[in-house]
Amino acid sequence: MRRNKITIVGAGNVGATCAHWAASKELGDIVLIDVAEGIPQGKALDLMEAAPVEGFDCHIIGTNDYADTKDSDLVIVTAGVARKPGMSRDDLLKTNANIAINVAENIAKYSPNAHVICVSNPVDVITYIIYKTTGFEPNRVMGMAGVLDSARYRTFVALELGISFEDVSAFVLGGHGDDMVPLVRYTYAGGIPIEKLISQDRIEAIVERTRKGGAEIVSHLKSGSAYYAPAASVIQMAEAILKDKKRILPVAAYLQGEYEESNIFAGVPAIIGGGGIEKIIEVDLTTDEEASLKKSFQSVRKVLSEVNV
Ligand code: 2OP
Repeated sequence: MRRNKITIVGAGNVGATCAHWAASKELGDIVLIDVAEGIPQGKALDLMEAAPVEGFDCHIIGTNDYADTKDSDLVIVTAGVARKPGMSRDDLLKTNANIAINVAENIAKYSPNAHVICVSNPVDVITYIIYKTTGFEPNRVMGMAGVLDSARYRTFVALELGISFEDVSAFVLGGHGDDMVPLVRYTYAGGIPIEKLISQDRIEAIVERTRKGGAEIVSHLKSGSAYYAPAASVIQMAEAILKDKKRILPVAAYLQGEYEESNIFAGVPAIIGGGGIEKIIEVDLTTDEEASLKKSFQSVRKVLSEVNV
């Protein structure tokens, strides 16, 4: 029996933390690849040397050579530059788009059957570039944003109510930008709609904080952006695929008529399992929610119109 093989492209904070969570969950053997010489090798060896202490059986290697990634089951793309204070995710487009094309060509060449989870920003557009460049079926390519945005939203709701983080269920739709759409009507604390527990003013403040959640971390860190919650979110998606869990998660998926959109990647709820995106779920929306989602899709489309793939 062969273990799953997971390649993580980019050995920066997000990539290395993905490796950490993936190893701790024993999701498979891990290849950490980066253009920087020594960094992936050092981080991979360091992490593998934690195995006897933590008790995971994963082989972890670091490399600068895509040949080592051959026949991966899953590739996680974190390569690219991150935001600095005052920058939007869209400011990263030019640099990260070029990196993504190169990464995607190597994924298609060495791991033609892999699933791909993209994290690099602006994520909805970079995921589109990876989809087009690899030529993979749309169910095998997805972007990570909704799980992270929902995790931030759920965190703030739990803190507001003074309850367990685990008891808040919610999802955030749309593009991974300032007009993302946390769906308040579908947010529950222990099965109770939060609108029955939190005042409208406070809900609005929580929604606003969620939308700016990434920038809040960037403003603290000054250089670089968040990585613990982004990496944990990626690994939740990775686990759903590799263990065929059929989880319902909000992911950036290729839309072909769902939510009245086509030829775009943006955040929608989907069933994630061994077949990747197995089904996109369309939820009922009010006129206001629909308008907010449309606005968010339009923001993604605007950035998408700047790329040529
Ligand atoms: C964030 O929201 C990295 O875009 C990511 O922190």
